[in-house]
Amino acid sequence: GPLEETSLPLFFGWFLCPSFQEKLRSMAKDFLKTLQGLEAFKKHLSDFTGEAEKEVDLEQHFQDKGMLHCTTKLCDYGKAEGSKEYAEQQAVKDRYGSMSELKLSALFLTPRTLGARVSLTEDQLQLWPADAEKEAMPDADLPPGSRAHVTLGCAEGVEPVQTGLDLLELVLLQQQGQEGEQVQDLDLGPLAYYGKGMWVLSLHESSLAPACFCSYYG
Ligand code: A2P
Repeated sequence: GPLEETSLPLFFGWFLCPSFQEKLRSMAKDFLKTLQGLEAFKKHLSDFTGEAEKEVDLEQHFQDKGMLHCTTKLCDYGKAEGSKEYAEQQAVKDRYGSMSELKLSALFLTPRTLGARVSLTEDQLQLWPADAEKEAMPDADLPPGSRAHVTLGCAEGVEPVQTGLDLLELVLLQQQGQEGEQVQDLDLGPLAYYGKGMWVLSLHESSLAPACFCSYYG
């Protein structure tokens, strides 16, 4: 019936608690400020601007996408494939509304997106859709959870779905043995450049973000 049709959300995911959202936003802001001042970044500025000499204001380049969260399953109100099956899984029903800690292991950015990589625990992986990586990269063999992230910002005209795709590209490079060009140690950890405007700041001490597993209806 019509009620059933509207009962599936836009997406399921972990929603960061408000005080941690603040903390993560300010961490990202500091990172952008530092990055922008580095000679190594200026050397690769054309990745972002298309022109070597042009300035870029990274804080303006990435637009905030609202409430910080880590999407598990996009359901699109039931229109997305597998959404009903996902919502009906016992693990999803059991954990709905529960709190856990998301381990943030890196901040990354590309000319398109800015995000935080999330390292899911075994327990959290039970809520991770089996085909999340395959759906985006059918030919790669990436471990489940490789795509898990929090979108912190997107360049103009870029949809947030891109953040996970950019992360997968980075994870694939790492899986192929690329460590990136080690640029320098920042306060938060080592910074590496992976080419084509892709930067990764691995966090020395991964941040633990308290988050609630639930859904968003929009
Ligand atoms: P992300 O998880 O990177 O933030 P939208 O507003 O575009 O409908 O997206 C709603 C949420 O679902 C966003 O958080 C977005 O990206 C995520 N999302 C959008 N499309 C997909 C997709 N095809 N697969 C997985 N997550 C998606």
